[in-house]
Amino acid sequence: MSSKKDSISNTIRIAFLVCLVCSIVVSYAAISLKPLQQLNKTLEVKKNILAAAGLYDASKSIEDQFGVISTKLVDLRTGTYATDLDVATYDQRKASKDPKRSDKLDADTDIASIKRLENYAKVYEVIENGELKTLILPIRGYALWSTLWGFVALEADLNTVVGLGFYEHAETPGLGGEIDNPKWKALWIGKEIYDGNGDIGVYVKKGQANNDIESEKRFAVDGLSGATLTSRGVDNLVRFWMGDNAFAPFIKHLKAGEA
Ligand SMILES: Cc1cc2nc3c(=O)[nH]c(=O)nc-3n(C[C@H](O)[C@H](O)[C@H](O)COP(=O)(O)O)c2cc1C
Repeated sequence: MSSKKDSISNTIRIAFLVCLVCSIVVSYAAISLKPLQQLNKTLEVKKNILAAAGLYDASKSIEDQFGVISTKLVDLRTGTYATDLDVATYDQRKASKDPKRSDKLDADTDIASIKRLENYAKVYEVIENGELKTLILPIRGYALWSTLWGFVALEADLNTVVGLGFYEHAETPGLGGEIDNPKWKALWIGKEIYDGNGDIGVYVKKGQANNDIESEKRFAVDGLSGATLTSRGVDNLVRFWMGDNAFAPFIKHLKAGEA
């Protein structure tokens, strides 16, 4: 004999209540954890800035270590520091999607496949005894599956790479994901961005760089085996961000003391 407890309407009511309780719990968790997730994201970016500059020490607090970094804004249209915006509240990622605060790139210019370039970029500086020691620049570009978001750090000569790394991407682990491999990242250290004519010299070679050849020793980074498309993405994005349509004018102004 079926009781009222086993009726269809009761089953639906119980199922509905279970769904309601679960959705409330999940929504509460999502909302309450959002600030923590945001904080972790910010810390991950700071960690990567420090790592690119060769300053990250896992045994110390990221916030404490970040104290040596000054964050500034650069107007990418003029290649000079911007003073009319608040760097603390500027969201470069949001600006890059906002038609009022970014410019559409044409196909020939957009070698990093980023579609739009924001008017202002954040730059990070390590200053020692009043002199610029390291300049850390944000870089991004599309590779095989995803946009790679990262940083490249330059020595005081504004040419020699101190470090390069990506804090966000969705390339395949073991293939394109090898951009996170410390051994591959180490290959960037000491490479020169510009050649003697001021043109971009650095590149990701398909295969291994031959350090017996002077030009490869100075400019070539080994391509990732089995991941030519991700390697090409990194080559393109470095070329774009270090080039005339992004940071090159700022770097030239900085070298000339006119930024
Ligand atoms: C499931 C799958 C995932 C792949 N992921 C990547 C990747 O993340 N990056 C990449 O460059 N190639 C990836 N590839 C390989 C590319 O399709 C392509 O074969 C490779 O980039 C060529 O590199 P190679 O010339 O060094 O062999 C993937 C292939 C498969 C089947």
